[in-house]
This record gives sequence, C-alpha cells and structure tokens, in this order.
Amino acid sequence: MTTLKHLSSVGVSPRSVLVRAPGKVNLSLHVGPVGEDGYHPLVTVFQAVSLYEEVVATVSDTFTLEVLGPGAELVPTDDTNLALRAARALAEHTGVRQGAHLEIIKGVPVAGGMAGGSADAAATLVALDALWGTGLGREELSSVAARLGADVPFALAGHTAVGTGRGDTLTPAMVHGQFHWAFALRSAGLSTPAVFQHFDSVADPGHDMPDGADTELMAALRAGDAERLGRALSNDLEGSALDLAPDLAETMAVARSAGALGVVVSGSGPTVAALGRSRQHALAIAAALTIAGVCESVVCASGPVPGARVVG
Ligand code: C5P
Repeated sequence: MTTLKHLSSVGVSPRSVLVRAPGKVNLSLHVGPVGEDGYHPLVTVFQAVSLYEEVVATVSDTFTLEVLGPGAELVPTDDTNLALRAARALAEHTGVRQGAHLEIIKGVPVAGGMAGGSADAAATLVALDALWGTGLGREELSSVAARLGADVPFALAGHTAVGTGRGDTLTPAMVHGQFHWAFALRSAGLSTPAVFQHFDSVADPGHDMPDGADTELMAALRAGDAERLGRALSNDLEGSALDLAPDLAETMAVARSAGALGVVVSGSGPTVAALGRSRQHALAIAAALTIAGVCESVVCASGPVPGARVVG
C-alpha cells in the first residue's frame, strides 16, 4: 500500500490527503465579562468526542470547496467558510503559492455548539500542511489556528484540555478511561455571538471567574469516575441558550429521567449532551430522547479522542 509516509520518504508529494478532526463538548464553561475585542475570557474544559469532520484536500491551482453530509446545505461555501479561511491563512503563513480543492464531509452537527466549523479549519490546516509538504510543527499550526477562531486550536489538539483566554490557550488534562455521551440535536442552530450577547445582557457585570478549572471536575476525569463527572458538568451559557430556545428544557428533563449522570448544553447550544454510565446506557438515553420526540435526532459518541490527524 502506498502511504503518505512512504510518498514523502521517496520525495513524492501526495495528490490528495484525508484528515479527520473531532467535534467537542464543553464539560464546564465559565464565561467572564466581555472584553474590548468583543471576546469573553473563558475557563473551560473541552473534551473531543468521536463525531468527526472529514476533509479531503486535493492539489489544485485555485481554492475551491464542496460540502457533503448531514446539514451540508446550511454551510456557506463562499470565502466566509472557515476551512477556506484556514487554507488561505496557511498559504499566507508559509508563502506557498498553490491552491487546493477541499471536500468536507460533515459528521459533527452543524451550528450545534460542538465546533464542527472549527474542526473543518483544523483538519484543513493539517491536510494542507501534508499536501504542500510545509512540515509545520503542531505548535506553529496551533498559532495559525488561534487566529481563525477560539475553538480551532482544540480541534487540532483533541483529547481533553483546559482552555483559557478566549478558549484557545490549552493545557492538556489527565483523563482515565472513556466517557459515553448521547447528544440531542436540532437543526435550528443557535448563533454563538447571539448566545454570548444574551449572556452579557443578563449576567451580573462584575461576576467572578474562577482562576482555573473546577477541581472536582478534574478529579472526576483523573479517576475516570463518570458519576462524579456527571455531577460536575456546568455551563455558564446554558441559561442564555435556554432563554433563546426554551424547548431545550424538556429535552434536558427527558435525558435526566432516563438516568443520565449529568446533562448540559454543549457550548453555546443548542445540542444537549447527556452523560451515560456506559455505551449501552448512552444508547438507552438516546432511545428515550427519540421516543419522547424532544429533539430532531440523536447521536451517541465517546471521548476523549485525538485531534485532527491524517488518515489517508
Ligand atoms: O472565535 P469564534 O469565531 O469561534 O467565535 C465566534 C463568536 O463567539 C465570536 O465572534 C464572539 O461573539 C463569541 N465568542 C466570545 N468569546 C469567546 C469565544 C467566542 O464572545 N471566548
């Protein structure tokens, strides 16, 4: 079999590269008062989960984009697309004068608060670094990633990490074992800036921010204790997401009555994340959500998983 490693070892550039990058759930999300740059300081714990965006990058003279998979029709394919912006940012950073055709296959819910667009950008950076043979290290790719969006460095890094600053300064977290999730989805997304703005209008302007990630949550992760983790899940944006999409309360209630160890809105929503005791339990929560008809669809996934990487 001809692998990417084999091609580069014999000095041949690949014609096409396939990269997979994960979506995320915020296990905790503390939001501070908005700064002058319009961004909020965050203390968050991200976990990468096994829902993946795939990006196939193919040699081309120009930059072009095609989006496939569930919700693809909702994704812009013009220059505002984050994957195209990532491609141009990498070309500018490296001085490469080539283009690329990008094919994105969606696996992370669109506009769901699970950072699917950020995963596309991270996957594009890794794919084009391989396609163009620019050989940037992960640290340099991460600095390009941070300029594209607050969640892009985490999609590159994967696993579980504490995010501070805008969420783009990452410290890896120690985690034992795997956690099993059911995600309740709906196609009408919530706009991230709108949820942050609503938060500003209701939050106490002088509210405190913790210095670091919750000790109880970090201890639960280290111990691999799903029950303890379930009790420690939190999201400062949850109240705002519920104000803007009140029907999410029922979705959360159904997940709780199905025995979920913890239920939280993922990021700025509207995806609701429910933690199960096991994979089977996550599937049972998913079944309860489907039968109750309190969301449009449900997917199960586990985490942590690695960040953006070449798979073909
Ligand atoms: O960085 P990204 O483009 O993903 O962020 C989308 C929007 O979310 C920002 O324009 C901002 O309104 C909001 N945001 C924020 N504070 C953060 C991260 C995102 O206010 N730390």
